[in-house]
Amino acid sequence: VKGGFLKVLAGEPVWPPPLWMMRQAGRYLPEYREVRSRARNFLDFCYSPALATEVTLQPIRRFGFDAAILFSDILVVPDAMGRKVSFVEGEGPLLEPIGVDEVEKLANPEVVLQRLGPVYEAVERIRGALPVEIPLIGFCGAPWTVATYMIQGRGGDRTPSRLFAYRNPAEMVLLLDRLADASVVHLEAQAKAGANALQIFESWAEGLPPAAFQDWVVRPIRRIVDGLRQRGVTTPIIGFPRGAGLNLQNFAGLTGVDGVGIDTATSIKSARAILGDRADGRQIATQGAMDPQALVTGGATLERAVQNTLAEIHGVPHVFNLGHGITPDADPANVARFVDLVRSGT
Ligand code: CP3
Repeated sequence: VKGGFLKVLAGEPVWPPPLWMMRQAGRYLPEYREVRSRARNFLDFCYSPALATEVTLQPIRRFGFDAAILFSDILVVPDAMGRKVSFVEGEGPLLEPIGVDEVEKLANPEVVLQRLGPVYEAVERIRGALPVEIPLIGFCGAPWTVATYMIQGRGGDRTPSRLFAYRNPAEMVLLLDRLADASVVHLEAQAKAGANALQIFESWAEGLPPAAFQDWVVRPIRRIVDGLRQRGVTTPIIGFPRGAGLNLQNFAGLTGVDGVGIDTATSIKSARAILGDRADGRQIATQGAMDPQALVTGGATLERAVQNTLAEIHGVPHVFNLGHGITPDADPANVARFVDLVRSGT
């Protein structure tokens, strides 16, 4: 496996830029909805290697993206650690909020690995079915984002998770460290099963005071990166701290990631100016950051959105992507046009 996506993650500019979309296997695709309707619930779907393989391949077949992303979810980790996780139609994920005294009862990494066996089986099957030149991305949620779901029972406003952290600093460190250690073995297993790149989703990085960002976002991500490298995993790692804003200052240097995902509210140029240097001296790779709503409207909005992103990434190692996941109301015809526009590179 080689190709533009991995070149960019190695710090080399590629033109036209490699392209994939967050949530590319998702409800905007009729063929996804068909497979989804065969599973009893969303977690069963994630734990079915056959179904996960099928939906991972769908957007590759239809659009020819330059990378595939494993169909799974960031919340399989708390599920495997023994927390109750469910997905309510139209409401998103719901968890049983964790109590302070329950943190130390979370299942250890060996148990997590054993319970997530079907995920690694899916990675193996997908790697076997994908064309050799298409890299496969494995992923996990970053500790702060997953902890937020565990503490609040849902996403949204991070007031409850911040209060939990301020009131129980020792338990918060323990929770973040446990999640980081589970994430290390989870990502390592995906890499061993055939994932060619790894992405850490920090979806709830927004609105944190700079000192808290260092403690809850940077330090746990650093722990994951160091843990993987210590175990000999050399797979490139992308961190995506959505909404980080000026907290992106030296994010690459401080966490050790190879690439950084950029959200819709951040200019790629400004982000690159402050991200800092990679430990290996290569240029930091960036990824993003087009507004997914342009795939709902299409037309001139989409053309302008593609041009605006392309104009920012000449001569720099960048993976074309969205600044957030594609939404269920996006039109697959707009996605096909989007791929053509990016590939034409103008
Ligand atoms: O195509 C891909 O991107 C790969 C699969 C993937 C899913 N979730 C499938 C999914 C990935 C990489 C994720 C990551 C994920 N999951 C994140 C981080 C990225 C982000 O969106 O910020 C988060 C926060 C979650 C938690 C989660 N899972 C939420 C908030 C939801 C509901 C959102 C919604 O759109 O309803 C899910 C469910 C989910 N995970 C869906 C998919 C395709 C939709 C549910 C369905 O099909 O019924």
